[in-house]
Amino acid sequence: MGKLYKKIIKDFEVSPEGRVFKILPLPKGEYSKSFCGYHMHLTNDEELIYNGGQGPTLQKMMEILVALGDIYGAEKLIPIKSAQIAGVSYKTIGDAGLEWISDLKGTAKVPAVLNPMGMDRTAWESMGIDKKFALKQEEIIRAYEKLGIKAECTCTPYYLERPRFGDHLAWSESSAVCFANSVLGARTNREGGPSALAAALVGKTAEYGLHIKENRYPTVTIKVKEPIHGAEYGALGYVVGPKVGDGVPIFTLKSTPSEDELKHLGAALASSGAVALFHVLDVTPEQYILPPERMEVGKQELENEDDWKVPSRYFLPRERIDVDVGAVKKLMSEHGEPDLIALGCPHASKQELEDIIRALKGRKVKKDVWVCVGRSAAEKDAALIDEIRKSGIKVLYDTCMVVSPAANNFKRMMVNSGKALKYVPSMCGVEASIGTTEECIEEACR
Ligand code: F3S
Repeated sequence: MGKLYKKIIKDFEVSPEGRVFKILPLPKGEYSKSFCGYHMHLTNDEELIYNGGQGPTLQKMMEILVALGDIYGAEKLIPIKSAQIAGVSYKTIGDAGLEWISDLKGTAKVPAVLNPMGMDRTAWESMGIDKKFALKQEEIIRAYEKLGIKAECTCTPYYLERPRFGDHLAWSESSAVCFANSVLGARTNREGGPSALAAALVGKTAEYGLHIKENRYPTVTIKVKEPIHGAEYGALGYVVGPKVGDGVPIFTLKSTPSEDELKHLGAALASSGAVALFHVLDVTPEQYILPPERMEVGKQELENEDDWKVPSRYFLPRERIDVDVGAVKKLMSEHGEPDLIALGCPHASKQELEDIIRALKGRKVKKDVWVCVGRSAAEKDAALIDEIRKSGIKVLYDTCMVVSPAANNFKRMMVNSGKALKYVPSMCGVEASIGTTEECIEEACR
């Protein structure tokens, strides 16, 4: 990688918001002047932008897209349907990030939303957020709004507008990326904040990585021998993620996961590993793309294993990990004494809100409990939110238990999410344990 590229994408920083660039100001003009050409094919219009014909912001954005495209061998830019931009919480981007965004001018060319910010935009005082933080956070949101980005701060943008199979996107929140690729069959790389913003303002992204079919084939087979359910899917992702790294796992399961269970599996795989796409045999939409020339484990071999009945039309990667479900169950059994129970990582679905109400059985909670939800999605389910609030639970919009500084005030958090289990200790300095939604609510009512 050339020195110049390193300068642009210096230090990807892995955070719950996806890979967020450390924001480095690109000295105006210096980069283009010192750059001796690019390898991608740009159209005349794209080249005009690249050369600054549509102003310095778009030039900067195009430089980011082209630099990434060249690094990863893209031949061209492709149009995207939407963007989801990380790098929103003042807790994670600080003043340097705010300054960088504030200096930009332009308008998003595609629908674009934001990742969760550090507070509920309207109820930040009740979260114990201090005014200085709130003002800075508000400045960040306004800076994004000025760029035509909707101040909808959620890690589940697919509850707002569901991408279609095959759509190209530029999303940056790692769990949303995993969901879009795996559950919906849309195509997005795990963008950093600036590259998602660049894609939003240009309306395009470089065609590399998971935008290309060949890169979406599974690389490792994960065999889970016993049925699992609910939060155990998040725990499974937490256990398997580090073993898979940035591979593309295909799971053979003894149980059929719901959409929420897939959401939790992907979120945990993406945070404890760097997975951006997974498949589940007989469940997710792209399992049929395996090309015969890549067949590695076929029917013959599988038939020798009583407990692994796979239809003959499937061929799976030979590299294989057998999951010890005991490790998943053990993780689920270590609860300790939480002083905060936090649900909604990723932001809760309507079904998950209903599950919480069912688990409450009309009771009031006796501990601090947060449920994190996207604002627009929650407004559609206002009756459910009211019902949950009656129990004493705090339903928070726009934010979450990881990116809000308010979470740092607790000692031990109980969650129903493998992703939160991974990030709460490192991002909030708070111990964490995982249980099912029912166990979390039981703990809250104890
Ligand atoms: Fe969303 Fe925060 Fe979890 S951004 S995925 S609720 S860590």
